[in-house]
Amino acid sequence: MNQDDLSDIQSVILYAYKNLPHASYLILSIEHPDLFKQWLREHLPEVTPSTQKDTSSALNIAFTSSGLENLGLPQDTHEQFSREFKEGIYTEKRSQLLGDIGSNASEHWEWGGKARPTVDAILLCFSETESGLSDLVTHLTYELEAYTSIHPLTTEALYERKEHFGFRDGVSQPGIKGIHTQNSDQLPAGEFLLGHTSAYGSDTPAPGSEHDKSHRYANFGYNGSYLVFRQLEQDVQGFWRYLDNQSSEENDKVYLAAKMVGRWPNGAPLELFPDREPEHFNPNSANSFDFSGDTMGHKCPMASHIRRTNPRATDLGLDEDEAVRSVNHHRILRRGRPYGKPLHSKLLPTSMLKAEDNGETRGLQFLCFNADLARQFEFIQQTWVNNEKFNGLYNDLDPLLGARPRPSGPSGDDFSIAKKPIRQRLKCVPQFVTTRGASYFFMPSLSALKQLAHTDTDA
Ligand code: HEM
Repeated sequence: MNQDDLSDIQSVILYAYKNLPHASYLILSIEHPDLFKQWLREHLPEVTPSTQKDTSSALNIAFTSSGLENLGLPQDTHEQFSREFKEGIYTEKRSQLLGDIGSNASEHWEWGGKARPTVDAILLCFSETESGLSDLVTHLTYELEAYTSIHPLTTEALYERKEHFGFRDGVSQPGIKGIHTQNSDQLPAGEFLLGHTSAYGSDTPAPGSEHDKSHRYANFGYNGSYLVFRQLEQDVQGFWRYLDNQSSEENDKVYLAAKMVGRWPNGAPLELFPDREPEHFNPNSANSFDFSGDTMGHKCPMASHIRRTNPRATDLGLDEDEAVRSVNHHRILRRGRPYGKPLHSKLLPTSMLKAEDNGETRGLQFLCFNADLARQFEFIQQTWVNNEKFNGLYNDLDPLLGARPRPSGPSGDDFSIAKKPIRQRLKCVPQFVTTRGASYFFMPSLSALKQLAHTDTDA
């Protein structure tokens, strides 16, 4: 990856902006494409490239398939995008495989889906301070709101980078070879960026790569990435209340919650600390494990969230090297942030077990980047998260994410914990997470944003 590429790639793909804790996401419906292009031309210099570090605020932009069409991307370029992106996240078939059924179904969503105004684009705004974020959003939307409908989505930086159930988030993340050189878990750039070499040794298809150089949209997809955005509401009280009913011992309740996640609330992995949460642990060791020594799931249950979203080297019927290679074809770069006030400011399980619900909604604005929606995000969601038979299980969906009970077939509402001499099985696990909105986006490179922003008269 050379410097030219880095200054062309939008920064949020490569960096999580941990130093910019305040964020707002603006979902746009572009009503007047020409005016929007004019806005884009004016604000292009503010879009943050990957070379721009130590900034106090950042802006990144992505588009849906309809957004690209709306802005005039010609058919011969548009048709080269992947089928999943062009069809969108809410087709009947895709809703089934992603678990967007029942209360998760798109007809109940607050944004996205067929019945709402079409989602065309998203502005991702980040800042060091709350006032900085407010200034940035005002600056960006000052004129835009006159001709574009805007649905703002907020975020909330929680104590010690936890998510609302009370667990440290953003602990395990793959790195990109040649960029995240400190990360021991690195994958080729083509797993996340179009037009680069993937783990299969070939370049990930990038729309426009076969256009003649004189084509206005030549190489349009290069250095871009697909963005999955899901607003996932969390029933935090329901989660802790369910665990409260499973045991009379407080330590046991936290232990069961940790078994569901696969990590303790402070992020320590069960694989290394199976019995109790360590007060301190070396964060560098947070990912120095795989599950090869725990093929029965005695330390970290097979059904747990982290084991099924990244089985690492598990017994998937393959030898260890082959298993790692195979699992690594299904990795994602997560960039999610919580939204809504926490049930308890420090997210302590002891306090959340007792907290009264204040009626506020809360959850995770789940974002992830990948180069192949079907092979990466959709595979995880369909084959691992929403599969009650995952890795030898029988009736266990992902304990955090599963859409339960299923309307037909196995209910998927068990949670099995392998133990000696006999396994423990939690029954009737309710649904804790509900989809409230979702869309697939494409985040173009800075050069592709320029191609989009220009009008026919500029050609
Ligand atoms: C409200 C919804 C969710 C919650 C509360 C949640 C929570 C967590 C937590 C606490 C961790 C462990 C810390 C870490 O490694 O960062 C984690 C890891 C992870 N989650 Fe989620 N998650 C949610 C949704 C999702 C979704 C929708 C996906 C993808 C389909 C996903 C994929 C992953 C992956 C890939 C990991 C890292 C596994 C590893 O490499 O060890 N999560 N999540």
